[in-house]
Amino acid sequence: MIIFGGAGDLSVRKLLPALYMAHLHGNLPDATRIIAVGRHEYDREGYVDFVQQQSRGFIDPQNLEPQAWQEFLQMLDYVALDATDPAGYARLAQASRRGAQRAFYLATAPTLFTSICDNLTACGLVDQDSRVVLEKPLGHDLESAREINLAVGRHFQESQIYRIDHYLGKETVQNLMVLRFGNGILEPLWRAPNIESVQITVAETVGVGSRAGFYDSTGALRDMVQNHLLQLLCIIAMEPPVSLDPDAVRDEKLKVLRSLRRMKLGDIARDTVRGQYRGGAVGGEAVKGYRDEADVPVDSHTETFVALRTYVDTWRWANVPFFLRTGKRLNKRLSQIVIDFANPPFSIFPDAPRTRANRLVIRLQPEESIQLQVMAKQPGSGMHMLPVNLNLDLQSAFSQRRAEAYERLLIDVVRGRLTHFMRRDELEAAWSWADPILEGWKELGERPLDYMAGSWGPDASAALLARQGLSWVE
Ligand code: BG6
Repeated sequence: MIIFGGAGDLSVRKLLPALYMAHLHGNLPDATRIIAVGRHEYDREGYVDFVQQQSRGFIDPQNLEPQAWQEFLQMLDYVALDATDPAGYARLAQASRRGAQRAFYLATAPTLFTSICDNLTACGLVDQDSRVVLEKPLGHDLESAREINLAVGRHFQESQIYRIDHYLGKETVQNLMVLRFGNGILEPLWRAPNIESVQITVAETVGVGSRAGFYDSTGALRDMVQNHLLQLLCIIAMEPPVSLDPDAVRDEKLKVLRSLRRMKLGDIARDTVRGQYRGGAVGGEAVKGYRDEADVPVDSHTETFVALRTYVDTWRWANVPFFLRTGKRLNKRLSQIVIDFANPPFSIFPDAPRTRANRLVIRLQPEESIQLQVMAKQPGSGMHMLPVNLNLDLQSAFSQRRAEAYERLLIDVVRGRLTHFMRRDELEAAWSWADPILEGWKELGERPLDYMAGSWGPDASAALLARQGLSWVE
């Protein structure tokens, strides 16, 4: 495994700990070697020290077994090179064993992908067994995504390319497939008019931290909606795939992305909300506003919050609104999908509350649970009813360890399993839905609405649902 950006933030926080965990559980082939590539001039020992000091802290101490950790450090090597300069690649070729099967993990800015692929081919490291993993952001619009795909496609077949969306590696997200297609009772109801609306929330309490430079030119739509939220939407909305083959699954997701209604200027003004946090308190701690963060321009127009209404224009989902919402510095960390089922068409109970009778809440983070709300009779005389929850707490239902998303996806790369990675056409379809929204916002020229850190976003987000007599479930 050759990791470009091997001393970068993602490698330190996620990739190296995930590879260690994969080794600990015997999921890396015995002869695995991990060559980190970066600009910093480490030698092998220097890099190993760096990993000891930086990455170790991102591994749960309970999982740090001295022998496994030492074995893991033994696997590491480091090659210092400038990704755009062909000269350094000869050293990389020397460090890489002849005849080894190679996976290249490009955890760098996407602007470097073309040079890296060109140089890898030129020094003879790419063959038909090689794999390449592309970390997001995969472009900032359709055109740049196409350029990346074209450039990488000159060196690798589609079956060798692993486009990461780490949400697809989450246990809970993979469980959505089982919930939908491993059960018989949901599928007949899983359509309009039985389902009246769908909400997808990915709320974070963190701010932009040390990534402001990247984030300010990205914003929440590109950072979260175009990839993670749309992938969740796809799994909720897709038709049953004919098998779990990568292309069978990805074909169905692609159809959803292609059926997403493209927004025109009027829709964008009415159905999207952009927000930016100002100072406030999260979890009782005072935090600064977005424009006061280091490296953020004082007049930044970048959105740190998005809420929107969209539609999947298919027979199954005709006129069912899908409400999507994500943001930084929100009230709590919460990722969940809420499916509102239609109420009974007629009530025989004179004092039935005017609330929703049936709602499925699939919680992905922080805890993993599935709740089905049903109406039940309140004990006593009369026929008073109230909504109650059938509760499934997945943590207590299964005691096994849950691997982190990156660990699961890296093992998939090693084993050559593409199902949980994005295909080229999926990525491009997602951008062609997102692009008009980004352009529309530019044309409208409005500043994002302020919201207080620690709140649920601008009031307009609640108003988006209130227009349809709905509210966000929190
Ligand atoms: C990343 C985004 O893709 O996902 C980050 O770039 C975001 O801005 C992160 O914080 C959220 O991932 P998770 O797994 O913590 O929900």
